[in-house]
Amino acid sequence: MKYQVVIPAAGQGKRMKAGKNKQLIELDSIPIIIHTLKVFEQDPKCNGIYLVINPKEKDEFIDLLDKYNIQKVQKMVEGGKERQHSVYNGLKAIESGEIVLIHDGARPFIQQKIIHQLVERATISGACVIAVPVKDTIKRVNESEVVDTVDRSSLWAVQTPQAFRLSIVLKAHEAAEREGFIGTDDASLVERMGHKVSVIEGEYTNIKITTPEDLMFAKVILHSERGG
Ligand code: CTP
Ligand code: MG
Repeated sequence: MKYQVVIPAAGQGKRMKAGKNKQLIELDSIPIIIHTLKVFEQDPKCNGIYLVINPKEKDEFIDLLDKYNIQKVQKMVEGGKERQHSVYNGLKAIESGEIVLIHDGARPFIQQKIIHQLVERATISGACVIAVPVKDTIKRVNESEVVDTVDRSSLWAVQTPQAFRLSIVLKAHEAAEREGFIGTDDASLVERMGHKVSVIEGEYTNIKITTPEDLMFAKVILHSERGG
């Protein structure tokens, strides 16, 4: 099954404290966003990319797409205030199609084989996310005091991409916008519509580059992938 992908890349990267959009930071002399885009550019099952950007950075993105020969970008869409608004703008730009993926521009290490598993499952269930089991013990804390220790056995850390039937995720975003609901991921909007979301196990290396130390981890991941 072929798919299209919305890539939100319109954030400010405040937690990275780099003074610019973190996705323009280079890893091995290539901007993070290009590492991410290349995964989809090189995947024969990807039919089109909808890249959501800050209009102030449009010229910079156009130059990068040209320089790195990224050809699958169908549209560059203007981002919104929150990530959810950016994603919704991206989804509305898609004219037709069955399966759509939503993938953060700041996650450059997603692997093609996981994308394909995700798409297969979403084709059947209508909504699927990738996640990894939580490794740390999680406690609920209030004002520097432990409230309780959460049972870890059923806790999973959810990543992107998340895959959906286009009609389902569009309806979920429409409803969230109408009702003023902001979720922390796209699947949560689908869940609140009463739709089941399936889960497949991903990889711990699919990190979202968020804070300065993530750049250090990213270099290690990049080189370990190259090495083997
Ligand atoms: N994003 C977006 N539009 C926004 C906010 C975020 O398209 N209004 C994108 C980011 O560019 C990123 C992804 O959503 O690829 C995940 O968001 P996050 O990691 O939080 O990135 P930023 O919002 O840029 O970082 P921060 O929260 O530290 O400012
Ligand atoms: Mg953010």
